[in-house]
Amino acid sequence: MNPTLELINARSSTRVYAPAPISDAEKQAILHSAMRAPTAGNMMLYSIIEVSDQALKDRLAVTCDDQPFVSKAPWVLIFVADMQKWIDLFRYSKVEQVEGVEHRMIPGPGDLMLACSDALIAAQNAVVAAESLGIGSCYIGDILEQAEIHAELLDLPPYTLPIGMLCFGYPGVERPPTAHYENHMVHENTYHRLTDDELTEVSRDLGQMHAPHGFGPGVANIGQREYKRKFTTDYMKDMNRSVQWWIDRWCAAEE
Ligand SMILES: Cc1cc2nc3c(=O)[nH]c(=O)nc-3n(C[C@H](O)[C@H](O)[C@H](O)COP(=O)(O)O)c2cc1C
Repeated sequence: MNPTLELINARSSTRVYAPAPISDAEKQAILHSAMRAPTAGNMMLYSIIEVSDQALKDRLAVTCDDQPFVSKAPWVLIFVADMQKWIDLFRYSKVEQVEGVEHRMIPGPGDLMLACSDALIAAQNAVVAAESLGIGSCYIGDILEQAEIHAELLDLPPYTLPIGMLCFGYPGVERPPTAHYENHMVHENTYHRLTDDELTEVSRDLGQMHAPHGFGPGVANIGQREYKRKFTTDYMKDMNRSVQWWIDRWCAAEE
């Protein structure tokens, strides 16, 4: 393996941080790497909010599904899917003078998906860049929850959506490598829906990988565990409610 592959292979999420600060030069290098990421149409449909205010970090640790390690992270970035800056630039540029097009000033779901892709691809570049400096990171998907609260806390205008938050810091403990399951992940040419025989294999392998000592009372297999642990939880209910709020606001808002 070359050093880049080794780095990617060795990464795991970092939730415990050493007191060592991240230097300004390191922050700049990570931000620069984020902004070197591929981006749809080279429009960079995202913005990055650096959370430097400890009180805001503390609040986000609570609003993002009570994850106290967020407030202890030396550096926190929020990756925002952003069409607002383009809509504002369009208005500033008097796009109504452009001839031969059907005018629109409200973004749609396609714009949203591209902006989310841009933001997350930039975020992952930041993760890899940080890792190359020995700095660990962890995504916080719960920034998508509590939409009304996060929109107000971060002063987010209508055509924005905080698609991911990243906590960074030098690892405070050894990071055991996280197991990832690679069977049946790659399909050839067309989508392959798993057969019952393949589902039996996946269930057995994932069970051994994630719960080698059994599932505990009332849970018979990995499917039941994940169904109970994640899919049916209150926080997933709010995640779905909240994301619908972001999407409705993005696609329908009039300023
Ligand atoms: C979209 C996304 C959201 C995530 N949200 C959280 C989170 O809210 N809290 C957390 O501790 N980890 C979060 N993670 C980290 C995952 O739990 C972690 O990536 C996964 O368990 C695999 O472990 P690894 O990163 O160590 O390989 C998130 C990861 C992704 C990609």
